[in-house]
Amino acid sequence: MALIRETDFGTPRRTSEALVTLEIDGKPVAVPAGTSIMRAAVEAGIPVPKLCATDNVEAFGSCRLCLVEIEGRKGLPASCTTLAEPGLKVRTQSPKLARMRRGMMELYISDHPLDCLTCSANGNCELQDMAGVVGLREVRYGYDGANHLQPGKDNSNPYFSFEPSKCILCSRCVRACSEVQGTFALTIEGRGFGSKVSAGGTDFLSSECVSCGACVQACPTATLTEKSVTEKGQGDRTVLTTCAYCGVGCGFKAELKGNDIVRMVPHKDGKANHGHSCVKGRFAWGYATHKDRILKPMIRARITDPWREVSWEEAINHAASEFKRIQSKYGRDSIGGITSSRCTNEETFLVQKMVRAAFGNNNVDTCARVCHSPTGYGLKSTFGTSAGTQDFDSVDAADVIMIIGANPTDAHPVFASQMKRRLRKGARLIIIDPRRIDLVKTPYVKADYHLPLRPGTNVAIINAIAHVVITEGLGDETFIQERCDVAAFESWKKFIADERNSPEAVEAASGVPAVDIRAAARLYATGGNAAIYYGLGVTEHSQGSTMVMGMANLAMATGNIGKRGAGVNPLRGQNNVQGSCDMGSFPHEFSGYRHVSEDNVRESFEREWSVPLQNEPGLRIPNMLDAACEGSFKALYVQGEDIVQSDPNTQHVSRGLAAMECVVVQDLFLNETASFAHVFLPGSSFLEKDGTFTNAERRISMVRKAIPPVAGYEDWQITMLLSEALGYPMHYQHPSEIMDEIARLTPTFAGVNYAKLDQLGSIQWPCNDAAPTGTPVMHIDKFVRGKGRFMITEYVPTDERTTDRFPLILTTGRILSQYNVGAQTRRTDNNVWHDEDVLEIHPWDAENRGVRDGDLISLSSRVGETTLPARVSERMQPGVVYTTFHHAMTGANVVTTEFSDWATNCPEYKVTAVQVQPASRPSLWQQHYQETKRLTTQVLSQTGAD
Ligand code: SF4
Ligand code: SF4
Ligand code: SF4
Ligand code: FES
Repeated sequence: MALIRETDFGTPRRTSEALVTLEIDGKPVAVPAGTSIMRAAVEAGIPVPKLCATDNVEAFGSCRLCLVEIEGRKGLPASCTTLAEPGLKVRTQSPKLARMRRGMMELYISDHPLDCLTCSANGNCELQDMAGVVGLREVRYGYDGANHLQPGKDNSNPYFSFEPSKCILCSRCVRACSEVQGTFALTIEGRGFGSKVSAGGTDFLSSECVSCGACVQACPTATLTEKSVTEKGQGDRTVLTTCAYCGVGCGFKAELKGNDIVRMVPHKDGKANHGHSCVKGRFAWGYATHKDRILKPMIRARITDPWREVSWEEAINHAASEFKRIQSKYGRDSIGGITSSRCTNEETFLVQKMVRAAFGNNNVDTCARVCHSPTGYGLKSTFGTSAGTQDFDSVDAADVIMIIGANPTDAHPVFASQMKRRLRKGARLIIIDPRRIDLVKTPYVKADYHLPLRPGTNVAIINAIAHVVITEGLGDETFIQERCDVAAFESWKKFIADERNSPEAVEAASGVPAVDIRAAARLYATGGNAAIYYGLGVTEHSQGSTMVMGMANLAMATGNIGKRGAGVNPLRGQNNVQGSCDMGSFPHEFSGYRHVSEDNVRESFEREWSVPLQNEPGLRIPNMLDAACEGSFKALYVQGEDIVQSDPNTQHVSRGLAAMECVVVQDLFLNETASFAHVFLPGSSFLEKDGTFTNAERRISMVRKAIPPVAGYEDWQITMLLSEALGYPMHYQHPSEIMDEIARLTPTFAGVNYAKLDQLGSIQWPCNDAAPTGTPVMHIDKFVRGKGRFMITEYVPTDERTTDRFPLILTTGRILSQYNVGAQTRRTDNNVWHDEDVLEIHPWDAENRGVRDGDLISLSSRVGETTLPARVSERMQPGVVYTTFHHAMTGANVVTTEFSDWATNCPEYKVTAVQVQPASRPSLWQQHYQETKRLTTQVLSQTGAD
């Protein structure tokens, strides 16, 4: 596809249903009330010169290039700041306007470096374009007087540069930073001739800037430019695709020169991001061509042997013959597979198909096991389906936003920006989190209530909120009677109204004052549309599933479900974690969350796949590892997942893998799990494949191949090769054919196909005859399960308790610049912001232990010990410490334990009793890790592989 330059309408779209009709250059034009004349003109195909206006920020009216004439009015108003009114007659071109515009441009150009031919923006510069549009032929003013042409560049940000001599002070960057991103890092400093753009008096890197790139995108000149563009020049083609980092699922334009990515530009038509992005999606794509990429298949007999590069054929045949040997020796159920939430829906579907059809068992699981499996269980039990209820845009209609156990500005940054926009317009905010996350107080946004609960007491708090709703009569009786299972409600009502669930009763355990719980409950129940957004701080607990049901109960009790601005919404972590669950990655479910024991469902798969299938659930990841330690589980195929770093109790995971006779890892890099592998199959990045991802709002978006797979195959092709070698050939020519099969087998995907995705851009499932273009908001007239079901959610304290030996609680999370196990982001310049995990600790706890900011500390629990630097921070409450798990050497999961959600086995990452003490050297685990890592990742030089 040739390079795509989207139309810039100059000012934001308005959505009023009232239309205004006016005449522009003799052409009648009808636009929603509130639309600017500039936008009305551009929508009618009439371009208006402009510099300071762009359509994702409000008009500013400074450049005066967009002047127009309006019949019957004096003067020449700026079309960007003048609204369309009924009956106006507007002229965008006249000799007078042309003269004025040329005069403006002359002033701009007379204070601008004339290095167009060598400028990185040459060919993509609005100043250059406008000079052409207005017909500027000469500049009468010399360069002798005062000007802004002094050389100098701020190169501190690793991804973009700031060259003030090229700045035309249009303020688009400042407005993008505040209105779009909501960070307010930039200002126009000084006055008059001395005005300049400033990142708070310092350079960009040391400012509040979070490197989202919105200012770079907004800049009409080369003042703010991607360094990759400066280095490589402008791209010559565009591929539309979807970000492969988080569950927001931002749409991107990959701009390329040949097969070289020049830059990623967020797509304005991306329905999850509307042209915005964060630092990861926009800038952190360099890992795709990092030197650490493994490009040849490799095998070895023992995990202490060096890797030997082999041909694809040898690697695939070796893996297949090992799987077959092991099954014939230890039985059909002795092997299994893990699908990846980083890979596409089609790839995930194929892995579970291969396990069920070629391995002949149901031993397939996914990394959602360790993040959002309680979401599946909890929402299915109450509402009838395992997914968030709303689209992101629904937040624009929310009056109260309740965030529980999530940190959107770090983990879901683009949705956080959208949320902040709504909050700046007046929505109220309740945050339930042990930590003082950024949203508690950020520019122009302040939480009405922050309930800093003790980790592990979520259920006590949600029950107490519901208790207030019920006992104070704040529920929505009509909704309950019409939409819910009334008998289930009555027994829940009795349970929840019991005194043991009152705010006063849970105050001591939760650490949250009862008065705050009551106030938050009243606000949620009576403040208008109330929407809950939650994250892993809800699910990764021993009562994760209970908590999900508790939130669903609360939403039903107040009628906050089935309409815009309300709902219960998991903020999914990885790009395709929703999709990997949808695609049947769990051992007990086929695609579309249908149990393997349902005969009619299983038979439909048997018919399509021409093979008998097991009717009993297979093993979950923790069961596979336990069985491996016990000696009955012997081989594993892991696609795009690093369970050694991401799963709890690293030592146990390592023991399980080390006990297996064949571990096959398919990945981009020799990750931690590959240290235990016997076969390594080089995978492909999202830039190298076709397929789809499904984001947190159930939105299925296209991933399109921008460059050929650098190791030769897309991941779905590798699974096909392996399946064929196992004796179960698959015959897909393209992932679209896999999607067609998914649609045939999965009622919620029945209407999904690539042609429709191309046409609509993206589709939110369910998509079928009843909803041919998808479903933005679910449960509108009735719940998927019919009547909404209230579930009893008894609070049961976790077995993980603090003791004299381990008196603190560790909770874990993510930060903005790194992603999950860090395999991708650690191989980018994002390390500038976070090159090691640190332990956040409250000043009191630090002082008690003689720990100062930056000191190396030992973090120990009853299962393990690691060391990392301390960061003394009042974000934490006393008694609670926090770290991330982005760096393998830190091994945060060395200390997390085997406790897990009662229903789904999702690990209890968020509650580990620990001790913190000063340390002087790495822990024994870390020393061992360093030694074995070297040993287990040696690669012999090439030995004639293809
Ligand atoms: S990169 Fe984003 S946060 Fe940083 S200054 Fe630009 S708009 Fe603001
Ligand atoms: S840096 Fe770019 S966007 Fe910002 S004021 Fe200067 S020219 Fe405008
Ligand atoms: S918010 Fe998520 S999906 Fe969007 S660019 Fe950032 S990482 Fe990618
Ligand atoms: S574009 Fe209207 S004043 Fe600049």
